[in-house]
Amino acid sequence: MFYVILSVQFFSILLIYIVDLHSFFKFFFPFYFLVYGEIKSLIGGRVELPCNLTLPSSDDAIQLIFWHRGNNTRVPIYTVDGRASQTLSNATHFLSDIFQPNRAIFNLQSNPSKLIIDPVFETDHNDYRCRVDFRWGRTINSFVTLHVIVPPKKITIRDQNGNYIENSTIGPYDQNTDVILTCESNGGIPPPTLQWYKNGVMIDGSYIVSDNGLVSNELIIYKISTHDLYDKYVCQAGNYNSSSTIPIEAYVILDINLLPIDVQILTNRTKLLAGRKIDINCQTYGSKPAAIIKWFHNDKQLITPNSIESYESNKTFSSITFKPTVYDNGSLLKCRAYNPRIQLNKKFSTTTTTNTTATITAENIDDENRNYIESIWRLEVLYSPQVILRIRKFNNNNNNNDQHSMSSSSTLPTSTTTTIMPLSISSPTTTMMVINEQTTLLIECFINANPSLVDVQILHNSTIIQLNKQLAVFVVVVNVIESLL
Ligand SMILES: *[C@@H]1O[C@H](CO)[C@@H](O)[C@H](O)[C@H]1NC(C)=O
Ligand SMILES: *[C@@H]1O[C@H](CO)[C@@H](O)[C@H](O)[C@H]1NC(C)=O
Ligand SMILES: *[C@@H]1O[C@H](CO)[C@@H](O)[C@H](O)[C@H]1NC(C)=O
Ligand SMILES: *[C@@H]1O[C@H](CO)[C@@H](O)[C@H](O)[C@H]1NC(C)=O
Ligand SMILES: *[C@@H]1O[C@H](CO)[C@@H](O)[C@H](O)[C@H]1NC(C)=O
Ligand SMILES: *[C@@H]1O[C@H](CO)[C@@H](O)[C@H](O)[C@H]1NC(C)=O
Ligand SMILES: *[C@@H]1O[C@H](CO)[C@@H](O)[C@H](O)[C@H]1NC(C)=O
Ligand SMILES: *[C@@H]1O[C@H](CO)[C@@H](O)[C@H](O)[C@H]1NC(C)=O
Ligand SMILES: *[C@@H]1O[C@H](CO)[C@@H](O)[C@H](O)[C@H]1NC(C)=O
Ligand SMILES: *[C@@H]1O[C@H](CO)[C@@H](O)[C@H](O)[C@H]1NC(C)=O
Repeated sequence: MFYVILSVQFFSILLIYIVDLHSFFKFFFPFYFLVYGEIKSLIGGRVELPCNLTLPSSDDAIQLIFWHRGNNTRVPIYTVDGRASQTLSNATHFLSDIFQPNRAIFNLQSNPSKLIIDPVFETDHNDYRCRVDFRWGRTINSFVTLHVIVPPKKITIRDQNGNYIENSTIGPYDQNTDVILTCESNGGIPPPTLQWYKNGVMIDGSYIVSDNGLVSNELIIYKISTHDLYDKYVCQAGNYNSSSTIPIEAYVILDINLLPIDVQILTNRTKLLAGRKIDINCQTYGSKPAAIIKWFHNDKQLITPNSIESYESNKTFSSITFKPTVYDNGSLLKCRAYNPRIQLNKKFSTTTTTNTTATITAENIDDENRNYIESIWRLEVLYSPQVILRIRKFNNNNNNNDQHSMSSSSTLPTSTTTTIMPLSISSPTTTMMVINEQTTLLIECFINANPSLVDVQILHNSTIIQLNKQLAVFVVVVNVIESLL
């Protein structure tokens, strides 16, 4: 009952000096004190501030109701004077300037009764106290804090170079690089939450509020790849949950330079015929923009004027005419594809050991510093026999025993005086060779053919020599033509 003695005059003096009303009343007047907590309202909206008008006893009556705002306890912002009227319903209402004209009304009928403010101004953000004076009972104060929410007005997206991108495509960035997007919002009370959404799904809700009220949320998209192409990244700024207010947003659409995914030599890998032209086709897909295709034969680039490159959807097609020679069996024909826009960057070359695409590796870097993929064809070239005939004469005194030896080179006679007479039958020339009677001749026939299965015949003036009846030593060596030329 000590508190009752202190009464009205005392605390109205004190209140002028005490800023934190809640703490003050809680401490000194715990029984007279009602807290309705905090109420949020959107700027321009309508808000109801509750006040408890319950009579302490049934024979009591309300005489005066004052609404005070903030630390101003002297001038009420709203007054209901029930002293002259019998009932509260026809009591007189006084509005202060801040609620003119008719921005507020105190609804006494509802329970609890409510001070309705409509529309809410940003300046309405404050602590409110409703003080009720009864005829007999002690004064009761209700407290409520009004938070006026001011939505953020502007939202922006920047790339890592500080360029602003508004609702448009960003990039193109090279595949496998990291993309940093910074979303910023200035203004808004309280500072808004900034959230990144990718294709409608929230992916990053971590934002920073700086001292000057700037809110930012940095999104890093690591190692962008094919599946990130044209993804829509939306940044939303909101500080109020309501069905009537939509958070403001901005978006970017990610554009990417893509590496080729696959390259294939389409031509059937049949056996080729030496000297016969063949058209070879190669196709690659996945590169954006269109891939460049280069052809290599044994690592030598083929400059082919009839190369056709076309870009339909994301495919690139190239064709060359190739004429294999007898020397090309086992050689490698390569179709190499790369994206002309993507220069090799160091970050990529060190991380390619992680398996993004199996075919693109750090080693596959051409002289223009680009990563490529390639399709390799080991050629099998068929050709008719290439023949060289070599005739040697030597001293028969030394090597009589070996005259009929035809089997292995280790038994061949070694001559001190030899005449080498290479005769290419594929380009026939006639060469004269003078020999004495009884000279032993070594006739060597070198044959190169693919397939190497050959039927060998030695003709003498158009007559087939029966090998076993002749004096000559006759050797057939297959597929060593290159070493002789
Ligand atoms: C209003 O105050 C009375 C007594 O002062 C209390 O019994 C009642 O619960 C209060 N009503 C609300 C809604 O707080
Ligand atoms: C009351 O609040 C206003 C602003 O809300 C401030 O400018 C003023 O200094 C305050 N007065 C006291 C006594 O705290
Ligand atoms: C208030 O209303 C009551 C009836 O509800 C009436 O008797 C009384 O005269 C009114 N007083 C004023 C001041 O209008
Ligand atoms: C909005 O509501 C969601 C869940 O209902 C909550 O997680 C979020 O913090 C709220 N945002 C604000 C600004 O109140
Ligand atoms: C960007 O698009 C959003 C909808 O996604 C829209 O609310 C916003 O007004 C647009 N911003 C501009 C500058 O057009
Ligand atoms: C390639 O070979 C397959 C069978 O091996 C055949 O069906 C196809 O028609 C051939 N394509 C061409 C272009 O010759
Ligand atoms: C590129 O082509 C491949 C194969 O035709 C297809 O799977 C892929 O979706 C295409 N990509 C784009 C971006 O068109
Ligand atoms: C031709 O090349 C194929 C494939 O490399 C190989 O198997 C074959 O032995 C070669 N033939 C000749 C005669 O060199
Ligand atoms: C990548 O390859 C390594 C082995 O080289 C393997 O251990 C790892 O699981 C692979 N990672 C993925 C994502 O396929
Ligand atoms: C082979 O032909 C040449 C000239 O064509 C001739 O002189 C020589 O007698 C012929 N030798 C034999 C054995 O027929």
